[in-house]
Amino acid sequence: RRRLTPPSLGAMKRAGERIVMVTAYDYPGALAAEEAEVDVVLVGDSGAMTVLGHEDTASVTVDEMLVLAKAVRRGLTTPLLVADLPFGSYEISDEQAVATALRFMKEAGCDAVKLEGGGAMPASRAAAIVAAGIPVMGHVGLTPQTANALGGFKAQGRTAASAARVAEEARRLQDLGCFAVVFEAIPAEVAADIMSTLDVVVIGIGAGPATDGQVLVFHDLLGLGTGGSARFVRRYADLHTQAVDGLRQFVDEVRDGSYPAPEHCYGIDGEELAAFRA
Ligand code: KIV
Ligand code: NA
Repeated sequence: RRRLTPPSLGAMKRAGERIVMVTAYDYPGALAAEEAEVDVVLVGDSGAMTVLGHEDTASVTVDEMLVLAKAVRRGLTTPLLVADLPFGSYEISDEQAVATALRFMKEAGCDAVKLEGGGAMPASRAAAIVAAGIPVMGHVGLTPQTANALGGFKAQGRTAASAARVAEEARRLQDLGCFAVVFEAIPAEVAADIMSTLDVVVIGIGAGPATDGQVLVFHDLLGLGTGGSARFVRRYADLHTQAVDGLRQFVDEVRDGSYPAPEHCYGIDGEELAAFRA
């Protein structure tokens, strides 16, 4: 497989090939995504919750995100690598936004960055980053960084006014030169209608089947989380339960002495052992 680029996602869209995106936050996760032939890997700020244990995504820092992104980079060759600009790292000014995006490109070797929202502030930021030559992915609908302002983790676009706002934000991000936009948690019919008016690549999460691709959080789809999951998640594995089962067996076998067994032990030549003991 050839290495994916922002233009190759556009080509996939035009060819009607569905695009698969998944998050990853570390080296083994990246290796698994690579081997599974995922198209796009997102170092999501969802990592604040999935791997750092925070209550929400707002507190994760750029330095923390860079550690995750560098680890993912080391495990990937083919998929496009996108990193989320975390909350607080692009709001202050266009200059701050470009500087932060450059760190993800230069220090972590990312291929693109993603930022949330389509209002006036993110629009200016997206334009500035695109102007600096950095591919940008937008994110509209439910935008977790500003979920409090939206009234919590709730689907968006469920009133005519809200749907119109999502459509307008998506169009603005397309017009600003974003190579792709994520639609999160909006009605399938609304997503389909907006899709028919856009040329930009759209990756959906909880936005129904009409989008050009789908994204899920690694820990949600593999059952590595312990909390409840959103309506749109399908679990393809139950890794948390498997991890607990494996660890429980290790605990039991250490305690009852059945681990380690002879095959786990190193040997030593008899004469050497006798000399050592003498
Ligand atoms: O942080 C994240 O995981 C995301 C995806 C759900 C799109 O932004
Ligand atoms: Na995110």
